[in-house]
Amino acid sequence: MLEGKVAIVTGAGGGIGREIALAMALAGAKVVVNDIGASLTGIGEQSATPGEQTKAIIEQRGGQAVTNTDSVADWESAKRIVASAMDAFGRVDIVVNNAGILRDQIFHKMTPEEWRAVIDVHLNGSFYVSRAAAEPFRAQGSGAFVHMTSTSGLIGNFGQANYSAAKLGIVALSKSIALDMQRFGVRSNCIAPFAWSRMTSSIPAETPEQKERVEKLKRMTPEKNAPLAVFLASDAAKDVTGQVFAARNNEIFLFSQPRPIRSSHRSEGWTPELIAEHAMPALRGQFLPLDRSPDVFSWDPV
Ligand code: NAI
Repeated sequence: MLEGKVAIVTGAGGGIGREIALAMALAGAKVVVNDIGASLTGIGEQSATPGEQTKAIIEQRGGQAVTNTDSVADWESAKRIVASAMDAFGRVDIVVNNAGILRDQIFHKMTPEEWRAVIDVHLNGSFYVSRAAAEPFRAQGSGAFVHMTSTSGLIGNFGQANYSAAKLGIVALSKSIALDMQRFGVRSNCIAPFAWSRMTSSIPAETPEQKERVEKLKRMTPEKNAPLAVFLASDAAKDVTGQVFAARNNEIFLFSQPRPIRSSHRSEGWTPELIAEHAMPALRGQFLPLDRSPDVFSWDPV
């Protein structure tokens, strides 16, 4: 499905990114395997090895890949990631914004540094790499972006204000790119993946309920997310843009996007007291509960 295309997959040294890179190569794409080889928190030493391993697997299977160890979290280095696709393969058709770190912390203890580090890799990184690829995409009149969002942003989670904000920001970024670049034949979609990876291995498994959740999650291997990414990157998805999907084991979900669900109107306008008396009783019945993302393991679409 991706014969003749060139794909950049960020954070492709392990987890979901590696599986997407392998699946894209198997589908015929030449792949830029980007990864700084960071720890889960992004703190400490970096290593080129994870990316090299992904490249080696692609080549063993007869595919073509190059590695790149530039960080997504900086404009100049993000430009080098896109340049490495141009240098190695002469074009770029697909960008998968997948790189990520976590710095979980309950909100009242979250430091500005924990906030910034996560926003920098996920939200700013997705902007930088997308923006750098927007120029060749525009010039050639085609291109596909696939961004990894999360149910932590779409639904909510404890201790992840930085990550949730970044991941919901990515949805808005994707939607805006879809609107702005439609005229150039460029598409942009999001996937909320589910996978047992080092990123989810820190989910607590103490109570029986938590243990059951983690057991379910362990069955969701990272490669379950790859077919959807390959499809969205391919020409078979030519009429799919601005959408948010999730891949949960063998299920694929389409997410709703925020729209007004109920209105209350008063031709004379409102006072705070009238809002309390009249508007709220009508709207309150539509309030959504405060859900959190791990609950979606037992969650059915409505
Ligand atoms: P992972 O931790 O296994 O992989 C992330 C990769 O990104 C690592 O190889 C890391 O070295 C790389 N990376 C970190 N900072 C980077 C930077 N500045 N530049 C380039 N590469 C960098 O995580 P996993 O689970 O595979 O997650 C992949 C994506 O999917 C992330 O965006 C994550 O937020 C998202 N996601 C994962 C879920 C899951 O269930 N595992 C759930 C929802 C979203």
